[in-house]
Amino acid sequence: MTDLREITFGTIDLDALAGTAGRVAVFVDGERKLGRAARRVNRLTRGAVARAVEGETWEKKAVGDVVSLAFPTGMAAESVDIVRADRRMTVEAARKAGAALARLAGASAITVLNEASARMAQVALGIALRSYAFTDHKSDKGKLPAPARMLTNKPEELEAAAAPLLAAASGVLFTRDLVNEPANVLTTTEFAARLEALRDIGLEVEVLEEDRLAELGMGALLCVGQGSVSPSKVVVMRWKGAAGAPLALIGKGVVFDTGGISLKPASGMEDMTMDMGGAGTVAGVMKAIALRKAPAHVVGMVGLVENMPSGSAVRPGDVVTSMKGDTVEVVNTDAEGRLVLCDVLWYAQQTEKPAAMVDLATLTGACVVALGHENAAVFSNDDGFAGAFLKAAETEGEGAWRMPMGKGYDDLLKSPVADMKNIGGRPGGAVTAAQFLRRFVSDDVPWVHLDIAGVAHLKAGNDLAPKGATGWGVLALDRLIRDRFETPEDAA
Ligand code: BES
Ligand code: ZN
Ligand code: MN
Repeated sequence: MTDLREITFGTIDLDALAGTAGRVAVFVDGERKLGRAARRVNRLTRGAVARAVEGETWEKKAVGDVVSLAFPTGMAAESVDIVRADRRMTVEAARKAGAALARLAGASAITVLNEASARMAQVALGIALRSYAFTDHKSDKGKLPAPARMLTNKPEELEAAAAPLLAAASGVLFTRDLVNEPANVLTTTEFAARLEALRDIGLEVEVLEEDRLAELGMGALLCVGQGSVSPSKVVVMRWKGAAGAPLALIGKGVVFDTGGISLKPASGMEDMTMDMGGAGTVAGVMKAIALRKAPAHVVGMVGLVENMPSGSAVRPGDVVTSMKGDTVEVVNTDAEGRLVLCDVLWYAQQTEKPAAMVDLATLTGACVVALGHENAAVFSNDDGFAGAFLKAAETEGEGAWRMPMGKGYDDLLKSPVADMKNIGGRPGGAVTAAQFLRRFVSDDVPWVHLDIAGVAHLKAGNDLAPKGATGWGVLALDRLIRDRFETPEDAA
């Protein structure tokens, strides 16, 4: 489990600067105007800060970029990091700056100096998001990151502004840990146990075991896990910070996907430890809103299964009956995510009468072909709700792109023996998967389906996340909840 880097807040003490250990960050704007703290650092270093921002190198820097002066004379610091700032820095640039500081710092302490507290909270979020490394299974786990200190003129204001952002960051790190965990560690049982631990922060958590799922008639979900020794489970997480119908968040939690009898090729199969990314994101959002005590009613549900080949595994051609009652011909056992989601979607509507639903899944390779690793695919039955999600994702800098749906795609799911088959063929593979899910969503429930196959896990990493799990979607959904599902007067 990865804890957030400790981040504290205080006022600037100019006389303490010379003796400050670790890394010291100052901000300089495009006009090369130095604030009070930057001027003092400049004086201590005999003008090194001013010289660093003189030339062409500085001019070419984008807002949020960092120039470092290593082991400056006149200071105890190991580095002075000069952030290229602007009077009105965007949220994105501020996060990027914080992330750059964290990446440079590694385990070293970070002291950030900025008189104006505007955007300092976003810098703190950037530091929190990039102070992450998944070293649980390395013999050399590296050092724990030393605290970051954010020093400004109004630290109380800053701390209050940063608190909900750091709650969200904590959710993102929880998601990343779950997604990075190998499948022999994160079995369905271990996954459920980690979700049950969220009771400590006030979430209500219920685990539905296989016998209960069978009673409920979840034949689609259960067929996926029947070849695995790990028992299938559905975990329900409730946060009731307001009255009224909840937002339901549904996640695909396939702890490992071999494809089953429709076996995947060996090359790259190890990446399918991330096939529980949808469930991981739902868990991260639930953690974030509980930590910030959101005045919203949200229910998270995840279907936890393992898709393995064995003598008891579901076969191509088998017909299963979903909880809704519709029958499905399992033509390809590797199209398992939709089988899991369809029963959880139906269960959520029956038990929660949700005001809206969002499901997340690493659902199709076709989605990665269509959009690469830049954008998640967004499918919806409601333009208003889809628009609200897209806006939230844009605000949080998480790529998301709306995709089409329609009867022509749905027709591709016709089966000669059952009500539908579980694949629609290669053309439009991400769309036919979405059409399959739509058959389990009532028209009067605004619904967004997010195919996160390309964005949940990155080989290369990005500004805010090292390689591996990204936690994509936690910030966007936390934002969506703030924008659309919070009623402050009902605050718990
Ligand atoms: N989990 C995979 C989809 C996936 C692919 C996620 C790449 C992340 C990266 C899913 O269960 C799957 O195997 N889908 C099949 C569907 C096909 C059989 C219709 C696919 O995309 O090949
Ligand atoms: Zn899968
Ligand atoms: Mn699969």
